[in-house]
Amino acid sequence: MQEQLLEKAKKVLEKNWQDGFTIPCEGLYPFQWNWDSGFIALGWAHIDMEKAKSELRYLLSGQWSNGFLPHIIFHNEAETYFPGPEVHNSSLSPFASRLKTSGITQPPVLGFVLEEVYEISEQSELPFVEELYDRVFMNHSYFYENRDPHNEGLVYICHNWEAGTDNTPVWDEIWKDLDSPEYQLERRDTKHVDASNRPSNREYQHYIHLIELFKEWKYDDALIAQKCPFLIQDPLFNAMLIRSNESLIRLGTLLHKEDAVRQLEAWNKKAKKSFQTKLYDPALKAYIYFNLRAGKPMKFVSSSSFASLFAGIPSKKEATEIANKYFRNGSFSGKNSAYLLCASFNPESTNFDPKRYWRGPVWINLNWIIYHGFKRYDLEDLADQIKADTLFLLEKYGFYEYFDPRRAVHQQLDAGYGGNNFSWSAALYIDLLKNANV
Ligand code: DGY
Repeated sequence: MQEQLLEKAKKVLEKNWQDGFTIPCEGLYPFQWNWDSGFIALGWAHIDMEKAKSELRYLLSGQWSNGFLPHIIFHNEAETYFPGPEVHNSSLSPFASRLKTSGITQPPVLGFVLEEVYEISEQSELPFVEELYDRVFMNHSYFYENRDPHNEGLVYICHNWEAGTDNTPVWDEIWKDLDSPEYQLERRDTKHVDASNRPSNREYQHYIHLIELFKEWKYDDALIAQKCPFLIQDPLFNAMLIRSNESLIRLGTLLHKEDAVRQLEAWNKKAKKSFQTKLYDPALKAYIYFNLRAGKPMKFVSSSSFASLFAGIPSKKEATEIANKYFRNGSFSGKNSAYLLCASFNPESTNFDPKRYWRGPVWINLNWIIYHGFKRYDLEDLADQIKADTLFLLEKYGFYEYFDPRRAVHQQLDAGYGGNNFSWSAALYIDLLKNANV
C-alpha cells in the first residue's frame, strides 16, 4: 500500500513539475509559491536531488535586491489564477526582481529546508548549501532590518497571505474594522474548488485592498510599518524564522561563515526571548498572536501556536503542559477525541469550520511541522499519533490540499478538500515515510 502510494506521490510531483520548479496544484495555483517550494524540495530531495536543487534555485531567482523573497514567482503565464502579476505590480518597488513576482512574502522555511536537503543528501550537498547560503541569510537580514520596528527580535507580517494561514478566524477582528471597497473581483479559485471550502468574497476584498495600499506606497517597508492596518506578529511565521536561523547557524558553522553565525545567534537569542515573553499566554498555556497595529495580543489558539515546538521555544515543562492541555486531554485531541490531528483552528471555538480552508481543516505541512516539534520534545506518543493521523488521511483520500479533522465524518467521506494532486501533500508524504527519524 505504502509503496503504491509513494509511486503516486512521485507522479504528483512529476506532473506538477514545470522545467525547473513545481507548481502547488494544477489550475488552482499555477505558478511557483514560496513556502510550497520549500516543502516540495524536501520530497524531491528523496527521489531526484537535482530537481530539489533546481526548485530552490528557481525560488531564489525571484529574490529582490533588498533580500525580500516574494510569495509567488510568476515564471510562467497562466489564466487560471487571481490575483496575477498585474494586480501585484511589484515593479513599483525600487528593489523588485526583474522577474514578475508578488510583493508580499510567506513563512521563511528555506533555512531549515536547506539543512534537511543537506541531511537527505547524506551531507554530500555542502557546495549547494554554500551556493544558496548568503541569499537565505540576506532574506533573514531583510526581516530583522525592515520588519521589526521595536527591535524585539519578532518580525511582523502585513498581509494575511504572508501568514500562510490565509483565512484563519484570527483575522476576523481585523476585517471587521476595515472599510475595504467592494471591488468586483474575478475569483478563479472558486472555479476550481467548492466555494464553501474557500475564503468568502468579502474576505477577498480585504486581501486585495491591502495589496492596493501597498502599491500606493510602492511597497515601501517604512510606510507599511507606519500605516498598514494589518500588522501582526504571527507565531507560525516567527517560529519558522527562528527554526531557520538555527539551521543557518549549524550550516554557517560548517561553511566557516563566522560573521553570519554570530549575527544569527544574536538574532535568535533575542527572538526566542521575545517569543516567550510576548507571545506566550500563561493562562491559556499557549502561544498566541500580537496585533502590532492595535498594540494588543490576539488570544487565539491555532495550529500555528504549536509551531513553537518545532522552533524549540517552550521549556520542557511548558511543552508538557501544552501536550497535556491541548493534545492528551484537550480540544485538539485527547483520549476519546472527536478530532484527528491537527485541526488548524481550535475545534472548541465558535469560529471553527471543519471544511473551510484555514478555519479548521488539517493541513499536511502543519502536521509535518508539529510532528517534528513533538519529536524535538520527546513527546513520542503525540508524534506517533500525528503521524498515524496524517498517513490515514493521505492513504484514504490521496494528496488533497486539506482534510476534515472530524474523526466521525471519515466513515462517509470519500475525498479531501481543496485542490487534488497537491504538491506539498505528496512531497511531505514522501519525506514522512523516508525520513521519519530526522
Ligand atoms: C491563495 O491564492 O489562496 C493563496 O494561498 C495565496 O497565496
